[in-house]
Amino acid sequence: MADAAAIDALLARMTLAEKIGQLNLVTPGGDTLTGAVVNSDVAEKVRTGRIGSIFGVKSVAAARGFQTLALQSRLGIPLLFAEDVIHGHRTIFPLPIGLAASFDPDLIRRTARIAADEASACGIDQVYAPMVDVCRDPRWGRIAESPGEDPYLASRYAAAMVEGFQRDDLTRADAVMACLKHFAGYGAPAGGRDYAGADMSPARLHDVYLPPFRAGVAAGAGSVMAAFHALNGIPMHAHRRLIAGWLRDTLGFDGLLVADYTGVAELVAHHVAVDGAAAARLALGAGIDLDMVSELFLDTLEAAVAAGEIEEGLVDQACRRVLRAKARLGLLEDPFRRIDRDPAGQRLVTRANRRVARATVADCSVLLSNGAGLLPLSPRSTVALIGPLADDRVNMSGTWAVSSRPSDVVTIRAGIARALQGTGRLIHAKGCHLVEDAVLAARLNVHDGQEKSVPDDPRSAEALLEEALAAARRADVVVAVVGEAKDYSGEGASRLDLRLPAPQLRLLRALKASGRPLAVVVLTGRPLVLVEEAGLADALLVAWFPGTEAGNGLADVLFGEAEPAGRLPATFPFHEGQITVAYGEPPTGRPFRDRFEKFRTGYVDMPDRVPHDDGLFPFGFGLSYTRFAYGPARADRAVLRPGESVEVSVAVRNVGPRAGREVVQLYLSPPPGPIARPRLILRRFVKLQLRREAEAVARFRLSHADFAASAAETVGDAAEWVAPGPYRLLVGPHSRALHGVTVVVEPLPGPVRGL
Ligand code: BGC
Repeated sequence: MADAAAIDALLARMTLAEKIGQLNLVTPGGDTLTGAVVNSDVAEKVRTGRIGSIFGVKSVAAARGFQTLALQSRLGIPLLFAEDVIHGHRTIFPLPIGLAASFDPDLIRRTARIAADEASACGIDQVYAPMVDVCRDPRWGRIAESPGEDPYLASRYAAAMVEGFQRDDLTRADAVMACLKHFAGYGAPAGGRDYAGADMSPARLHDVYLPPFRAGVAAGAGSVMAAFHALNGIPMHAHRRLIAGWLRDTLGFDGLLVADYTGVAELVAHHVAVDGAAAARLALGAGIDLDMVSELFLDTLEAAVAAGEIEEGLVDQACRRVLRAKARLGLLEDPFRRIDRDPAGQRLVTRANRRVARATVADCSVLLSNGAGLLPLSPRSTVALIGPLADDRVNMSGTWAVSSRPSDVVTIRAGIARALQGTGRLIHAKGCHLVEDAVLAARLNVHDGQEKSVPDDPRSAEALLEEALAAARRADVVVAVVGEAKDYSGEGASRLDLRLPAPQLRLLRALKASGRPLAVVVLTGRPLVLVEEAGLADALLVAWFPGTEAGNGLADVLFGEAEPAGRLPATFPFHEGQITVAYGEPPTGRPFRDRFEKFRTGYVDMPDRVPHDDGLFPFGFGLSYTRFAYGPARADRAVLRPGESVEVSVAVRNVGPRAGREVVQLYLSPPPGPIARPRLILRRFVKLQLRREAEAVARFRLSHADFAASAAETVGDAAEWVAPGPYRLLVGPHSRALHGVTVVVEPLPGPVRGL
């Protein structure tokens, strides 16, 4: 790898225009554009050193062509190729929210490693992932890409993804540079509307939204992407205090800061810049290194330097970071190291990769109910497989699977047919349309070419239902596969109504009325409001969007070859009106008790069977095919001083009928203090694999620093404090079923500013 002196020497040979060229990041266009603009004259600009990085090049041949042109530019600085590789590249794993549901950082790391292997085999150097936006508003479609509502789970996810992508050594040809996104607070848009601003206190930003960025940077992430929205009124592409301040100065992040798609140009629409030139100055000044798609750095910075409106040193600094990233990736030594890796495409969608993808489906699937032990099903049954997603390829990979191919997907129908082969019988019927509203269908088909995610189907709703009921009557059990179309969640896909689309609910009602046992598999990119569905289903399984091996993976779960071992990474609300909703919110002076009371927090129009300050299905929840019994929690000390650590342990025993996995969770419940903290804060978890009747002890070590919280007075302020006093350390299977011990935490020495 080129050292700092070599990079400085290269920089010294560059003209201002060449340096600015390195800051220009473009896309030549392709299938999945997320904005209206596409860059033009890309080849010519590459040849003349006016482009430094490209994303969205859909073939190795095209990458080779662009790289060859880059080497013909005056200094022959190679291009860096990037792509959105969010939950797998060609082999698609469950959606990020599903991967988070695994509560299994080793598994998450493994999926990222496979994604890195496949992406680098396609010539890609940098991936725009992981997305680590904590989100407590399931109306926001991008919760599909997010690790959910909890900062600690999101932090573990962030670190595991970065480690998997980067593999400790970015010069490895099979490693890619990670990009943490979207910095910061993008998961809290007003009203759940994508791109809308977020307003929050500095302490909330630091305690809830920034921890995964901190964890990702600590894991060595080479780049970070700015978010589209404005935080407390300041667009993130101009947020000097958070980018140049907290991220670079406080955390010491020295990697690349990438703009989002036309994010620099959008500073004008945000109303903080009068024109494109002002937008470019603001963004560069805030610490943005790469201008994605806007090309405003390219078009305006040279004149701005000449006019003395910005210092050339800022351009130098950004360019140095770009060159350093290229050096870290080994591109300065060998520009073709990833382009040449796999000329025959042999590393893509391999059997081994499929095996991991298949197993991951069970790890991420969350069993929400299983009345009378309906699941797992017997492979000797006659199964009526019904629903608009039961025989579907196009939707299985969900949102942000830009390099996936529907032809690689194993449909649920195919997977179940294989599982029943030679033993049982499968009858299939579609049952209903995914959605019936033509305007909605057109909106959901926005990204599809030939194959639509909401396909045209001339059959009437009545005919589809009749066929489904006939199938149900001939079967022992009905498996209904229902849910969202893939673009019902994702970017620019906020929803008002989080129930299943109307035709699918009608289908479930009719299937229930048929009297056959009903297992409902929900495919979704977000927590849905499943109140009626929970009442109709004898068993309810959420499988997110399961990816390439959807069919085999789900068949494994349904027939008990594998356990549904996921737990909810985000609360499933009772009603959209509760949103935002999460387990870890600060208490009120008039907390909800166990029923509605006038002048206490709650809703007059909500029944008492669900806590009004929590969801229908709480954070961390998920059943298994076996049962676990918890012993008492123990702590190895009663008092914790600064510099010390405490071990909390709990014995967990499998007391059910078969082997299974349990996610043991540890939460803090802080004592009273001058800043109210949430009643529960997740601090550790571990996934245990236990044979029938086996017992294991889950041990969690917490340091004094694990009790810290933000004491920030401004968003850039990294101040922390530890509230002294008795903490409850609570363990259990989910956020609403906990028991624990008390440990007294002593304060850090010295006064805490402002408290
Ligand atoms: C998204 C980013 C993505 C970029 C490039 C934007 O619309 O917000 O997450 O990386 O497009 O595709």
